[in-house]
Formats: sequence, structure tokens, C-alpha cells
Amino acid sequence: MQYIAPADLLKDKIILITGAGDGIGKAAAKAYARHGATVVLLGRTTQKLESVYDEIISERSVQPAIYPMNLEGASPKDYADLANTIETEFGALHGLLHNAAMFGAASPIQHHDVDLWYKVMQINVNAAFLMTRALLPLLVKTDDSRIVFTTDDKTQAYWGAYGTSKAAINGLMNILADELDTEHPVRVNAINPGPVRTRLRARAFPGENPNTLKTPDEIMAGYLYVMGENCDRNGEIIQAQ
Ligand SMILES: NC(=O)c1ccc[n+]([C@@H]2O[C@H](COP(=O)([O-])OP(=O)(O)OC[C@H]3O[C@@H](n4cnc5c(N)ncnc54)[C@H](OP(=O)(O)O)[C@@H]3O)[C@@H](O)[C@H]2O)c1
Repeated sequence: MQYIAPADLLKDKIILITGAGDGIGKAAAKAYARHGATVVLLGRTTQKLESVYDEIISERSVQPAIYPMNLEGASPKDYADLANTIETEFGALHGLLHNAAMFGAASPIQHHDVDLWYKVMQINVNAAFLMTRALLPLLVKTDDSRIVFTTDDKTQAYWGAYGTSKAAINGLMNILADELDTEHPVRVNAINPGPVRTRLRARAFPGENPNTLKTPDEIMAGYLYVMGENCDRNGEIIQAQ
């Protein structure tokens, strides 16, 4: 996508990013911070979050915050605690990027590992539902807030739980966009990154030469656009490439 974001696009915004320790989430956190946002880095591996924190500080962007959380085992109480912490620390939330996901395995449905199916659905779909549900009271309080889902377009054979989870995310995105299209709307969209050089992509396509793929940093225009005030789209899937 072609878009040049103004330097102050996200000035004074508080934005929570899931899966912020690696890949696309890490690139989005750094891009949002560079454009003025205070980013809350949520992810599973504290060490990775700390290194993204250090990179953001070394770029002299706004000081971020770290929130380690394993989405696989998180309960509704954990999401309520997250909402309370954000409200106490920052008093507001303007943006939520649902980006964490696991690939699982390529498998025909008939032979899909059942526990792996539950795990992928818990991280990729149920966590996004629970987090949105807990954070909506904060998001609706600020004018013009944004929810963005990182989606995918894999509904062909053998994409199993992962492909199904992303189809569910598109449904959740559409339903939310419709429900929140009020006088003071929360804009809800999804972004499909296309093929990007990350750990998840390498698991899904182990034989692929990663150097043929765009890096996460190279696809940030769409991530900035969809989080910014000028994006008046709602209920759409935006193609990052
Ligand atoms: N790369 C592509 O080509 C591509 C294409 C289409 C869509 N996508 C989507 O892009 C998004 C980002 O993926 P990516 O490609 O950047 O892969 P990635 O580098 O593997 O990043 C995935 C992130 O999700 C986090 N995560 C996984 N399980 C978690 C859990 N249980 N709790 C908390 N965090 C968890 C990971 O944390 P840890 O690092 O700590 O494990 C990691 O930071 C995903 O939604 C993916 O479906 C990617």
C-alpha cells in the first residue's frame, strides 16, 4: 500500500499491540512509537518485549510499556486486569492491534490434532474476543479509536485451524465494525500483510527462500494508515501489499 504517514500521526495516542515481541507486531510497535504513540507491548516472551522496548528507547521514540501475557492460558480475569492496568497507568486507550497468532500445523481436517486445534483457536480467536470485550469500555470512551486485526487469506486445503481462525477473525471484525458504527465510532478493520519474512511464515513455508519476501518494516504503511485518524474505513480488509 502507498501511504506516507505524517510524523505526528499518532501523537498522544495509547496503542496496545499483541505479539509485539517479534515479526510484524514488533515492526508495528516501532512504527507507531516513531509516529508519536505510547505503545503497550504485549506478548509471551518477556525478553523479546524488553529488546523491543530498548530499540524504541534507542530511537528516542516515546517511552513504551511492557505487558507480558500468554494468550493461551489467559482468563477473563487476566483481561480485566489488563484493562484496569491500562486505565490506571494511562487513563485511556486509542488503538488496539490484534496481531499475535500461532500457525499450528498444515493438516487435513480429518487428521487435525485436536489439542493443537484448541490451542490455535484459543490464541488466534478466543484471545481476540476476550481482549476486545475487556477493552471496549476504554476504547469507546475516547473519540475516534481503532481496532485492527492482522488477518490472512488461507482458506484452501490443509490450512486447518490457522486458516479457520483467520476466517473467524474476519467475521469478528465485521460484526464489531457494524456494532460500533455509532455517532462516536470505533473504527474496526483488518489488514492482510501478505507474505512477510517472519518466524510464522518460515514455519508455514519451510522450503521458501525468506530473502524473496518483504520484511515487516517494509509493509508498515498500511499498519500506520489503518491506525491513523484519516482512515475512515470501517469493516474492511486492507491489503498491506
Ligand atoms: N508473516 C506472514 O507472511 C503473514 C501473512 C499473513 C498473516 N500474518 C499474520 O501476522 C501476524 C503476526 O505474525 P508474524 O508473521 O509476525 O509471526 P511471528 O514473528 O511469529 O509473530 C507472532 C507473534 O505472536 C506472539 N504469540 C504467539 N503465541 C502467543 C501467545 N500464546 N501469547 C502471546 N503472544 C503470542 C509471538 O510471541 P513470541 O515471539 O514470544 O512467541 C510473536 O510475537 C499473525 O496474526 C499472522 O497470522 C503473517
